[in-house]
Amino acid sequence: VPVDPFDLVVFGATGDLARRKLIPALYHRLHDGQMPDAARIVGAARSDLSADAFRNMAAEALEEFVRPADLDAQTQKRFLSCIDYAQVDATSSEGWSDLAAAMPPREGRPRAFYLSVAPRFFGPMAERIHEAGLSGADSRIVIEKPLGHDLASARELNATLAAHFHEHQVYRIDHYLGKETVQNLMALRFANALFEPLWNARHIDHVQITVAESVGVEGRGPYYDGVGAMRDMVQNHMLQLLCLIAMEPPGRFEPDAVRDEKLKVLRALAPHDHPEDVVRGQYAAANGTASYREDAESPDSRTESYVALKAEVANWRWSGVPFYLRTGKRLRTRVSEIAVVFKEAPHSIFPAASGRWAQNVLAIRLQPDEGITLGMTIKDPGPGGMRLAPAVLDMTFADAMSSSKLRMPDAYERLVMDVIRGDQTLFMRGDEVEAAWEWVDPIIAGWEERGDRPVSYDPGSSGPEDALMLLHRDGRRWREIAT
Ligand code: BG6
Repeated sequence: VPVDPFDLVVFGATGDLARRKLIPALYHRLHDGQMPDAARIVGAARSDLSADAFRNMAAEALEEFVRPADLDAQTQKRFLSCIDYAQVDATSSEGWSDLAAAMPPREGRPRAFYLSVAPRFFGPMAERIHEAGLSGADSRIVIEKPLGHDLASARELNATLAAHFHEHQVYRIDHYLGKETVQNLMALRFANALFEPLWNARHIDHVQITVAESVGVEGRGPYYDGVGAMRDMVQNHMLQLLCLIAMEPPGRFEPDAVRDEKLKVLRALAPHDHPEDVVRGQYAAANGTASYREDAESPDSRTESYVALKAEVANWRWSGVPFYLRTGKRLRTRVSEIAVVFKEAPHSIFPAASGRWAQNVLAIRLQPDEGITLGMTIKDPGPGGMRLAPAVLDMTFADAMSSSKLRMPDAYERLVMDVIRGDQTLFMRGDEVEAAWEWVDPIIAGWEERGDRPVSYDPGSSGPEDALMLLHRDGRRWREIAT
C-alpha cells in the first residue's frame, strides 16, 4: 500500500548506516511502489556538500548495496530526484533555520527526523529540532541503540526526548523487530490456534535464543570495547526476542497493546542473583585469527564478546521454564534462532528397542535461511518394524514464497515506512528500554564488583566451555551452532 508523501530528514546522511541501510531501503520502497515520487529525502550532515554531490553519494550507495537485479536506471533516476541535502550542525544553531524554511508544515504530510548520528547527539538534536519549530504534531523523531549505557542514562535520554516530543512521536528502533521472521513469530503465535494452548510451563521445557555471529568487532573496537555483548545485544535484541516469545496475546495488534505486553515480560524477569548463571567470554587468538584484544586494540580489555545466561520469567505462564540466551562474535557460523523445546511425551508405549523419541523443538530461524522448523519423532519408513526416528518439518520462507518471487525485505524497509505511516508497533517504548536496563544493570554491576574476567574461547568455536556447563548442570544441551 503506498504511503502518503512525506519529508524525511536523515541526519548523519554521509555515515555508514545511511549508506548501507537507509538509502537502499528507501530505494526499494520506491521500486516496489510504496514510496511516492512526491516524497522528499533530505540528507543532513555537517559537511559542506551540494545537493548534487550528495545525490552522487546516494547513487554510489545504491550501486554498492542494492542487488543489480533490483537496480534499474529509470527507478534510480526517480529516486535521486527525491533527494536533497542540507548542511546542519548538531552542536550549533548553524543551518537549522534554513532547514526549517525548506520544510514548512503541510497538511497530511508527515515530517520525520532520523538521527543516524552518535548517541551523544540524540538529546541536543532533539532540542534543536524543537527550537527550529520542527517538533509539531506531524513530526516524528527516530533513534536507534545504544539508547543509554545504563538505567540512569536511559532515563535521562527519555526525559530529554519527552521535553520536546510526545511519546507517540518517538520511534526507537530495534532493527531485530523489523526482521521478517521476528514479525512472523507474532503471526505464528497469534494467527494459528495450534501452538498457543501449548505455550506455557506445562508443555514447554525451556527456550534457547541464539544470536551467533562469525564476524569479530570489525573496526568498531572503540565503540564495542566500552559496551560488550551484554549491552550491545542482550539488553536490546535478545530481550526483545524473549518478550515476543513470552508475552501474553495482546488484545489487538496495535502499538500500545503489544508494547504493554512486552513491558510486562521485562518487568517479570527475575533479578539475576546467581553469578554462575551468566557466562562471559572473550575470543582468543587461534589459527592465525586475531584475538578480541587485538581486534579491539585494547590489550588489557575485560570486555565480553560473548555472553550466555539463564533467565527466568517469573509469572504463571513461565514458572520454572528457563530461557537460555547466548550471543557472541567470532563463532563458528552466523546463525540466529529461537528454539522452543517442548517436554517429552509422558510415557512411552514403544519397546526400548524402537529407539528414543526426540523432544519436539519448534525452531524459528532468523538468519540465514529465514524459516520455521518443527522437530518431530516419526516411524522410520520401511518394513523394519516400529523404529522411531527424528524428522524435521521445514518451512523455509524462501521456498514457501518462491512462486511469487518475493525478495526478503531488509528490516529498515519495514521500519522506515512504519515511521511514515505513524505505526509504532515494532518500535520500543521508553519504559521498555528502561525496564530492560533495570534487569541488565545489576548483572554488569556484579561483574564489576567481583572484578570478573571473561573466559576465553577459540575463534570459530561455538563459545566457551562454561556455556556448555550452564545447560549441562540442568540436564540440557545447546543446539548446534550450524547452518
Ligand atoms: C547490532 C550490534 O545492533 O546488531 C552489532 O551493534 C551486531 O554488534 C548486529 O553485529 C547484528 O545484527 P544482524 O542484523 O546482522 O544480526
